[in-house]
Amino acid sequence: MTTGVAIVGTGHIAASYARSLTARGVRIVACVDIDADRAIAFGMRWRAASVSNLTELTAYSPDVALNLTSVLAHAEVTTKLLELGIPVFSEKPMALDVAAARALVDLSISRRIDLRCAPDTLLGTRQQRLRNALDVGLIGQPMLIIGQIAWSGHERWHPRPQSFYQAGGGPLLDLGPYWIATMVDLVGPVVAVTAARPCHLPAQIGTTDSSAWIGFVPEVPTTVAVILEFASGVMGCLTMSFDWPHTKAPSLEIVGDEGVLACDTPLFNGAGVLRHRLRGSKAWRRWHPHILDHEAAISWYRGIGVVSMINSPEVHETSLDKRLALHTLEILQASSISLNTGKRIVVATPELNLRRRFHHSV
Ligand SMILES: NC(=O)c1ccc[n+]([C@@H]2O[C@H](COP(=O)([O-])OP(=O)(O)OC[C@H]3O[C@@H](n4cnc5c(N)ncnc54)[C@H](O)[C@@H]3O)[C@@H](O)[C@H]2O)c1
Repeated sequence: MTTGVAIVGTGHIAASYARSLTARGVRIVACVDIDADRAIAFGMRWRAASVSNLTELTAYSPDVALNLTSVLAHAEVTTKLLELGIPVFSEKPMALDVAAARALVDLSISRRIDLRCAPDTLLGTRQQRLRNALDVGLIGQPMLIIGQIAWSGHERWHPRPQSFYQAGGGPLLDLGPYWIATMVDLVGPVVAVTAARPCHLPAQIGTTDSSAWIGFVPEVPTTVAVILEFASGVMGCLTMSFDWPHTKAPSLEIVGDEGVLACDTPLFNGAGVLRHRLRGSKAWRRWHPHILDHEAAISWYRGIGVVSMINSPEVHETSLDKRLALHTLEILQASSISLNTGKRIVVATPELNLRRRFHHSV
């Protein structure tokens, strides 16, 4: 029998999770935030107990605690929750750096307390269709995987936009986890990365119409390009920007020796139409396999990862596996080192059980 979810960090995204989870019958049993007033208001809105520290959450025996704190607090909060014996679903990235994330993975394993990490978009229909296309050989052997995203103006919609422009933010750590986890889930682990950024970065946020943030100076690169070398032999390229107003380039494109598969929707949105064009064909066609008869059950919604955790606590080797989240962070941290040194950075390549039938000969 399930009791419900505890929410740690009742900021901007918490309401979206609460709305989606409660609509699916998952109770929010308790919440906590270092801003006590914010937690109290959230608790009243969602009929949850608001408590003043993490230890007090244990009184409500949550099935899972959802770590929705600011990125800088992720590791500290997850550590404490695991030590309290509470399974954790953490928003991305799992921690600010690889050492902290590895310590979390080790703690989860040694305590036998489940730990999973966003992005749970990997459980959604779009990702299943992408995987299916590769599994059935729709485009032949993948050779190249390209991702791109232009996502500017956080100060227009977020009440605390500074975190997007500080350590733990920037396109690398804010957007990167979606694209990197998706790519690794599709074509396997990465062995090396080389990253670059424009020589001339914007000195301040200049595109905003919100006067409160005009003049705010980003502390992290706001446009990044990463070349990825996958162990499978596939090459990858990822460009992400908080500066560009838009791009018409596909959000994700996989080039195989028999054709190309593309998705237009940003990967932080779990949906999206896929189109493919095979070698010799003059037209792009929609890829909508009917074989996914369990599709209705896996359409992405906010909180799908938490629900899957409650429903299948014994399953560890899923797309949300902590080792995938750790490898994702290894790739992002290596990209950051490459940005700062101008060098190609080798990444430790883990054994990942990705339920993957597609195998590339190296
Ligand atoms: N905002 C979005 O659209 C969005 C989407 C997907 C994922 N996320 C992720 O969700 C997380 C939260 O994002 P947000 O936009 O809600 O940020 P936010 O700044 O609005 O909220 C974070 C909350 O965490 C609280 N907090 C910080 N440290 C804490 C601690 N040690 N203990 C308890 N509470 C603490 C803050 O007081 C704040 O209320 C981030 O990891 C972000 O990457 C956000």
